Amino acid sequence: MTATTQRAASRTKAKERARFEPRIVAFCCNWCSYAGADLAGTSRMQMPPNIRIIRVNCTGRIDPSFILDALYEGADGVLVSGCHPGDCHYTSGNLRMRSRYVLLKRLLEQAGIEPERVHLQWASAAEGDVFAQGVTDMVERIRRLGPNPVRRRR
Ligand code: FES
Repeated sequence: MTATTQRAASRTKAKERARFEPRIVAFCCNWCSYAGADLAGTSRMQMPPNIRIIRVNCTGRIDPSFILDALYEGADGVLVSGCHPGDCHYTSGNLRMRSRYVLLKRLLEQAGIEPERVHLQWASAAEGDVFAQGVTDMVERIRRLGPNPVRRRR
């Protein structure tokens, strides 16, 4: 590859990165975080429009394969948001999710996918601001990482 071709390829990559809008799938539990997301919306809190929310009864219902599927199908990042420890409507679903999350991060690393693409946060129904900030942080983190490598390979 000549120097001119390399410069052109580098400029194209820079342009692609500047245009990159992360696609984030957010799994939210019905009892806390979904209500928190709703509160953020009805209170008109600032947050990027990059997320698509999937409501689940509890984060304990989220099979790790749901997260892997989302990444495989083109999400650049996955946010899991649920009740604070001790507040789970199903007692310990969020704690189960936390255990799976730790294992999933290791698995992603082994698979060559940045573990930072998946994030777990706690946000109660009254914490619209926490939810909005979590989404903002997630979008910034994924923007820095760039497009999901699995999506790029497909
Ligand atoms: Fe919210 Fe279990 S009900 S995490």
